[in-house]
Amino acid sequence: MSRLRAQGLTLAYEDRTVVSDLDLAVPDGRVTVIVGPNACGKSTTLRALGRLLRPRSGSVLLDGTELAKIPTKRIARSIGLLPQSPVAPEAITVADLVSRGRQPHQRWWQQWSEEDERAVRDAMARTDVTALADRSVDELSGGQRQRVWIAMALAQETDLLLLDEPTTFLDIAHQVEVLDLVRRLNHEQGRTVVIVLHDLNQAARYADHLVAMKAGRVVAEGPPADVVTAELVREVFGLESIVVPDPVTGSPLVVPGAPYGPRRAAAEDEDSEDTEDPIRT
Ligand SMILES: Nc1ncnc2c1ncn2[C@@H]1O[C@H](COP(=O)(O)OP(=O)(O)OP(=O)(O)O)[C@@H](O)[C@H]1O
Ligand SMILES: [Mg+2]
Repeated sequence: MSRLRAQGLTLAYEDRTVVSDLDLAVPDGRVTVIVGPNACGKSTTLRALGRLLRPRSGSVLLDGTELAKIPTKRIARSIGLLPQSPVAPEAITVADLVSRGRQPHQRWWQQWSEEDERAVRDAMARTDVTALADRSVDELSGGQRQRVWIAMALAQETDLLLLDEPTTFLDIAHQVEVLDLVRRLNHEQGRTVVIVLHDLNQAARYADHLVAMKAGRVVAEGPPADVVTAELVREVFGLESIVVPDPVTGSPLVVPGAPYGPRRAAAEDEDSEDTEDPIRT
């Protein structure tokens, strides 16, 4: 089942088509991860799924109704979207920014409820930003700021959560923490999540459903174990690699070909047929 789906979706900026005739059914209650090279249309697709971008043709459907026909506030109560490079209002504090996630839930007769308070507190605790509550967002480190944005998206408490590269700027421990948090929300609360990730190995670890895009089209989709192969990495990223089982999870682990260095340089100079290196790029 898919509450959110794209049908024949074509997306363009002025006269440049970026995504062509894309069909995508986001599986309910699952974590879907979108991967693909820079500029292939991942963010553009995600923005259209969250109605930040109007389709040139085709449509995005939520519960069978075109997004364009659903009131904005109702969409915001169902779909939370964290864009790739969000911009905070100047001099806003962390607590105020996270609180903005509650706007879709507020009524004119009740501006702020205990439920709002709880959601904000909970979102800040889960993303480890409680201690930053009174700081100005402008003066945070890249990673701290990223966690504050994630807190805002969580505070919205939507069934569908769309996250565009939520691990950018995060150190490795915080990357794992954020992705674990997303998985936990999915597991404990049945939330449907779509994440754009650059790290193929993290994608393979965290995705139930992996979508590989290239030049505005879906090239492959399915369980990571079926999708992530050396052929796919070559086709989508133009990179030679070997794919081995991740020693911890068993999911596919992409190991790129030999890096440039003295050995490879010598081999290239000789243009030798040396087969010792199984993968020389
Ligand atoms: N606001 C915009 N106006 C015009 N062109 C845009 C705009 N946003 C993106 N594009 C173009 O659309 C194409 C797809 O961009 P998009 O941001 O969807 O790529 P992406 O797959 O998310 O890439 P990345 O991995 O670098 O984030 C690119 O060629 C980009 O230059
Ligand atoms: Mg992007």
